[in-house]
Amino acid sequence: MLITTHFSPAAAGEGRAARLAAAAAALAPARFLAKMAFAANLDSTGLRFTTRGLAAICLAAAFAMAGPGGVGASGLGEASVRMLVAQGGNVCIADVNDEKMQALHAELGSKTTTFKVNVMMDDNIAEMLEHTMKTFPGFLGAVVNCAGIGMAKTTVGKAGPHDMKTFDLVMKINTYGTFSVCAQAAAIMSKQAKDEDGEIGALVNVASVAAFEGQKGQVAYAASKGAVAAMALPMARDLSRFGIRVNTICPGTMLTPMMSAASDKVKNSLLADVVAPKRMGAPSEFAHTAQFLIENSYMNAQVIRVDGGVRMSNL
Ligand SMILES: NC(=O)c1ccc[n+]([C@@H]2O[C@H](COP(=O)([O-])OP(=O)(O)OC[C@H]3O[C@@H](n4cnc5c(N)ncnc54)[C@H](O)[C@@H]3O)[C@@H](O)[C@H]2O)c1
Repeated sequence: MLITTHFSPAAAGEGRAARLAAAAAALAPARFLAKMAFAANLDSTGLRFTTRGLAAICLAAAFAMAGPGGVGASGLGEASVRMLVAQGGNVCIADVNDEKMQALHAELGSKTTTFKVNVMMDDNIAEMLEHTMKTFPGFLGAVVNCAGIGMAKTTVGKAGPHDMKTFDLVMKINTYGTFSVCAQAAAIMSKQAKDEDGEIGALVNVASVAAFEGQKGQVAYAASKGAVAAMALPMARDLSRFGIRVNTICPGTMLTPMMSAASDKVKNSLLADVVAPKRMGAPSEFAHTAQFLIENSYMNAQVIRVDGGVRMSNL
């Protein structure tokens, strides 16, 4: 699923800027606070908000329902949507699963819009971006690219060699989809005016610790996420002339609805390799990292793990 946060210049009145600065004061580090205080004094163009996650379009996965067990039991995309809306952004939630998006949109209201998109289809991604820009005219400032699938299949199994249809599907969604969203979103960003630091947008992609320590049966998934991790540096180099930064988050085992539904046996085996704290990561901890990567102008071309120190063992 994908999210877009978008800031409408028309809505960037002085009162709004002051409210955003006040919100930032409660949340942000000193450098961001200084930027926000400066932004609060700007006119209604809203330009300075663009790469601070406040004037952005973001694309990310969202999970609209809370998982069993309540606290923190929701997807990485949903947590990102909530973070972006809390930071003052307008968000397009985009996913192949419409039902999940609609529940989140119903809760968060007019700061969000939705678009049913299949990231395997380039034209569909273009339509999603067009919808976002029409719904929230202004600047595309950030993308959080969470859409992804996992498949468990070994290189050689009882039925013979790993089928290429499965391998292809995982690569198409996790790798090609991520890249196509980035390329098309960056093309839109590249036409926008840069801010005082020469920036215009930030892309946040999602890989996995499996990019480095893929376990048995994760060969397709690990390959797809390894490719996403490998893209961070060359893509950041490609897009630097436009003022667009690119970073990749590699989550460990996060408490999403999918994980909270797993058996205790599976959960315990996954937690055994976590250093500390001995628990799954909260989606809000992922979103916090995405916010940091969007806001911090000196974070670029990074592949950053959010994993409690885990190094996945050879199961
Ligand atoms: N949860 C974890 O422990 C964990 C760990 C490492 C990496 N990740 C990665 O984080 C991302 C989000 O995972 P999550 O745990 O929130 O799971 P999730 O299943 O809630 O999110 C994935 C979303 O992608 C959407 N999606 C799937 N195929 C799509 C397509 N073709 N087009 C558009 N959307 C599509 C799904 O509908 C779903 O909403 C994934 O890329 C996943 O690989 C998750």
